[in-house]
Amino acid sequence: DGKLEIWEGETEETFSPIYLKTSEGLVRHQIGQFPLLNQEAALSALEAAVKAYDNGRGKWPTMSVGQRIECLQDFAYRMKEKRGIVVNLLMWEIGKSYTDSCKEFDRTVDYIEDTIDALKNLDRVSSRFEISEGVIGQIRRAPLGVVLSMGPANYPLNETFTTLIPALIMGNTVIVKAPRPGVLLNYPLLEAFKEAFPPGVVNTIYGQGRLISPPLMESGKIDALAFIGTSRAANNLKKQHPKSHRLRSILGLEAKNPGIVLPHADLDLAVKECILGTLSYNGQRCTAIKILFVHTAIIDKFLEKFTTAVNNLKFGMPWEDNVFLTPIAEPGKPNYLQELVEDAKQHGAEVINEAGGMINETFFYPAILYPVNDKMKVYSVEQFGPVVPIVPFDDIETPINYLVKSDYGQQVSIFGQNTEAIAQLVDPLVNQVCRVNINSQCQRGPDTFPFTGRKDSAEGTLSVHDALRAFSIRTLVAAKDI
Ligand code: G3H
Repeated sequence: DGKLEIWEGETEETFSPIYLKTSEGLVRHQIGQFPLLNQEAALSALEAAVKAYDNGRGKWPTMSVGQRIECLQDFAYRMKEKRGIVVNLLMWEIGKSYTDSCKEFDRTVDYIEDTIDALKNLDRVSSRFEISEGVIGQIRRAPLGVVLSMGPANYPLNETFTTLIPALIMGNTVIVKAPRPGVLLNYPLLEAFKEAFPPGVVNTIYGQGRLISPPLMESGKIDALAFIGTSRAANNLKKQHPKSHRLRSILGLEAKNPGIVLPHADLDLAVKECILGTLSYNGQRCTAIKILFVHTAIIDKFLEKFTTAVNNLKFGMPWEDNVFLTPIAEPGKPNYLQELVEDAKQHGAEVINEAGGMINETFFYPAILYPVNDKMKVYSVEQFGPVVPIVPFDDIETPINYLVKSDYGQQVSIFGQNTEAIAQLVDPLVNQVCRVNINSQCQRGPDTFPFTGRKDSAEGTLSVHDALRAFSIRTLVAAKDI
């Protein structure tokens, strides 16, 4: 309720994925602790958000758009002052490289500015118009109410803010459930939220989602769920709402994006982009390329170049120059990845690169698996880590069918130099995914572009424009004889 209170309840320690050398040997470094809120505390955050919204009559939802923009600008200004500490926390808590941590911070600030610009354009579209003779209409975009925004651990700042910011600017009040890992960067921002927004407008909560999210959803007082994570968790949350037809959901979920390397591909370019697509930030991006289909005519050359490129990738601490592979934050992840590798080996694949699949402290050496087939788990499940399954193909129907049958439909990347062949492939692919990349990796950015997926990959679309629509209702005011 606008007050920063000292939490006297249970807390959880946050350990970095980075090991430090001490006199007692290598130890995982404790970098902080955070309040493990109980259900009562989560419900009081909800009450603060409900009170600030006050059924659409609160100060925030009734403020002019211009005033809300000023608050957002003020917040962006205060946030920029926290760049150093937030970037450090991204490196230490989730093991993201310095370059990528800076990118995550900067694109988030840009997103705030782009959202403000987009809103100005959205307003222009909504100006007055004549509905029929003597009847003047005006479109108003009105808020939904209370939004629960839950971001993921791999992009704890950017992905959280891509729902938080548009929700706020449209006049909603928001509860932000901070991800674990990725929780600590919220601390330096609390003061900025407090200074920039009226009490109860932004409410950050911490703790175990499985304990503190159900009472929020079961209260029936959440009007929109903005969630980035697994489809299973999203479905559970939605089911907890007593009147799910009243709940608007904006979801970013799993993906299994294929890369397709055609016989006429420029192999150096394809390898460079496939390395970025499969392994940047250790493959922990929802937009990563998670399976490669390579034509048999060029498979030997591709494997040789790809393996050499992987062997040359630099492992190291997030702050080191040119580092590419960094410690993995999620404690159970390396073992999970090894299980996928073992399963693939049992079904006939080999790890074709030296040390592939090895665990060293919190590092996981990328495993290139070849040849991969549909009997292996890694063929269809999202690995979300540095494991690269490669499937040889002769017939282009093989990767197309893969997408048709897949539970996911976010993106695809195709690599080739024969323009006609690529053009023919684009048509069947746009019917399966929401972004087709030609000769480049899969990616979300620029964040102003529509970002969504088919099937189990998403619900709703996130671009700055789409997000403004997602967090508001289009209302018509029709005036006769005025
Ligand atoms: O994990 C999902 C992120 O939005 C990915 O963004 O493709 O720009 O890395 P990116």
